[in-house]
Amino acid sequence: DPVRMEKIVSLCKRRGFIFQAGELYGGLNGCWDYGPLGAELKRNLKDYWWRKTVQERDDVLGMDGAILTHQEVLKASGHVGGFSDPMVDCKACKGRFRADNLENLECGQKPSCKPGEHKNCELTEPRAFDLMLSTKLGALATDDDPKALAYLRPETAQSIFVQYKNILDSNRIKLPFGIAQVGKSFRNEINPRNYTFRSREFEQMEIEYFCRPEDGLRLTDEWLEARLKFYEEIGVPREKLHILDVPDGERAFYSKKTYDIEYEFPFGIQELEGVAYRTDYDLSVHQKGSGRPLEYFDEETKERFIPHVVEPSAGCDRTVLAMICEAFDEEELTDEKGKKDVRTVMRFMPRMAPIKVGIFPLLKKNEEQVRLCREIQKTLQPWMTVFYDDGGAVGRRYRRQDEVGTPFCITVDFDTIGENGPELQGTVTVRHRDSMEQERLPIDGLLAWLLDRIR
Ligand code: GAP
Repeated sequence: DPVRMEKIVSLCKRRGFIFQAGELYGGLNGCWDYGPLGAELKRNLKDYWWRKTVQERDDVLGMDGAILTHQEVLKASGHVGGFSDPMVDCKACKGRFRADNLENLECGQKPSCKPGEHKNCELTEPRAFDLMLSTKLGALATDDDPKALAYLRPETAQSIFVQYKNILDSNRIKLPFGIAQVGKSFRNEINPRNYTFRSREFEQMEIEYFCRPEDGLRLTDEWLEARLKFYEEIGVPREKLHILDVPDGERAFYSKKTYDIEYEFPFGIQELEGVAYRTDYDLSVHQKGSGRPLEYFDEETKERFIPHVVEPSAGCDRTVLAMICEAFDEEELTDEKGKKDVRTVMRFMPRMAPIKVGIFPLLKKNEEQVRLCREIQKTLQPWMTVFYDDGGAVGRRYRRQDEVGTPFCITVDFDTIGENGPELQGTVTVRHRDSMEQERLPIDGLLAWLLDRIR
């Protein structure tokens, strides 16, 4: 649905979720900047993932590795010389395309070139295009100094494997256990496309879960379930997800089982996360590459072996995009007089919403209302994002918050300040984004009431 996608992209720009990187200078292809609301949304996602993956489990530890990566690490892992996508060139337009993704491309250089018909253009045979991005380190580095070469990591996984032994030795932990990391990764994608879906700079949320060989397949299924539950909890429901049990021959050669978790984006069903049973491949290649032992000694069975690993590897930007696509709604409303109207509302889960609560004085000229609003704002701010707004009619202010997905709006009015009698003094109106219903709550209970609903 390209129309829906266009609306989403335009809302994201208009309200400050996502901007093209370097836009002022024509844009940097495949790179995106998150604006104030996008940054909050992304942070909420990463924090929740960290909380569920690391903080609320006793079998997973966190780490935060360097982006710049030793070339030997990526030689041993097989990335150097081996991490590529098949690419074709179009002789008509000189464009270069991912060979596995030609259905929707059009170079426009030949009359026959329409979406889905690009293959009729003069395409070359596919050849491997290297996805690795590199740089040179050090003041004395010259272009031909091989020692200065370093890579921007293409995945966060490798530093976990490389530090596996240090983490094992510095923590009292036994198999099975995991190491989790969130952070940037870089790939020189041939055609960055579908908004932030395929970018050249992106963030991953990865877990490497180390285990005994006989537990690998079972744990892969368990992690798949855990990850599906996670998506449900952030507002990406099970019925919009597809699980692809990647068949033999299409998995990486070392993987005994891989599930792709895919989401129904407006531009098609596409991968959000892979849950892969990678056997002992990674630790074995690093043991070989470094010449250092990476075996695990099992105290109970007295066995020494290289642990196997199950890897749930999710894309942060893709998940943010899925949350945005899922939340976007245009609701048709009819008022009392029969007048029709469309309300744009982002139905984010409250725990993911960039702004948790809007706070409005009914009348901005009323000093007591403004004072109370500011007081409530100060009480709530250490716990959640609060947005104060006194501009225009309250109805308009509600709509502005609907459009960015704020689940609750508080209004301080004449009842709050006791002008209509003592019964409602000290209470405020709380308006719910989804139902648009309002209820009256005491100011004293607001913090607890909100915390209950946004955790
Ligand atoms: N360590 C395994 C690994 O990196 P991957 O399937 O290449 O596996 C994992 O990447 C996840 O990272 C993907 O499912 C996707 O969500 C995200 N990802 C990969 N390439 C991406 C790109 N170019 N732009 C945005 N996200 C990407």
